[in-house]
Amino acid sequence: MHAARSLSSIGYNHDAMSSKPPPAPATPAAMLSVRGLSKIYPGPRPRAVFADVDLDLGPGDYVAVMGESGSGKSTLLNLVAGLDQADRGSISLDGVELTSLDDNSLTALRRSHMGFVFQAFHILPYLDVAQNVGLPLALIGVGRDEAARRVAAMLATVGLGDRGMSMPRELSGGELQRVAIARALIHRPRLVLADEPTGNLDQESARQVLQLLRERIKADGAAGILVTHSRSAAQTADRILQLTQSGLSPPASP
Ligand SMILES: Nc1ncnc2c1ncn2[C@@H]1O[C@H](COP(=O)(O)OP(=O)(O)O)[C@@H](O)[C@H]1O
Ligand SMILES: [Mg+2]
Repeated sequence: MHAARSLSSIGYNHDAMSSKPPPAPATPAAMLSVRGLSKIYPGPRPRAVFADVDLDLGPGDYVAVMGESGSGKSTLLNLVAGLDQADRGSISLDGVELTSLDDNSLTALRRSHMGFVFQAFHILPYLDVAQNVGLPLALIGVGRDEAARRVAAMLATVGLGDRGMSMPRELSGGELQRVAIARALIHRPRLVLADEPTGNLDQESARQVLQLLRERIKADGAAGILVTHSRSAAQTADRILQLTQSGLSPPASP
């Protein structure tokens, strides 16, 4: 177990900006709180992707977001990650409003508080497996010995204890995604965002990856969002929500 890290640990300091204490979050249990989120892509023909997305996740909550291709699942994750800007609405993580942060604070917040898993793995081909997994620790300044110890423990956890010195090209798709999960979780992020993580995997590898993702989110008490168009994948989460133009809601029928 580890205590929830505050944003002051990444240099974000409310008191420096105001003498008042930070406001209490609306729902004390909510670690991630999304309210009335709307996104329109501008252009000659502006595209309204979704409106009024609400979502509350507490520690250890793991939710699946399903939706048609093009319904905005990746867009939603990008907004929650602070990689893109919403047109309306709010996103708060541990009581801090993301939309109020500048780019440097958002980058620091992403590095310390978030972990990402993508369909295409995004493992760096010229680094070995251990170096890939250790990358987030290097970015937040964890020392080499401590990082090496944590990487070795994490690789053992994901069943790749003897593959630290392998190069990515020597690994199967399922193994690469387990490396990606190890990398996403090595710094024990508060929020884990997975975008179609099993989209490129065979059935058995997908099963292993989903089981691992769930186990690690629960063990770390993180909040997790799994984006998928696969119902069987979605069923590995605690609950399933459907994304449509009018928001997130429980699916109409099983
Ligand atoms: N950067 C962008 N600019 C304009 N339109 C975009 C952009 N990114 C995505 N879209 C459009 O927004 C919609 C939602 O895309 P996306 O979030 O990728 O959906 P999903 O992940 O559910 O398949 C799609 O119609 C897509 O074409
Ligand atoms: Mg997508």
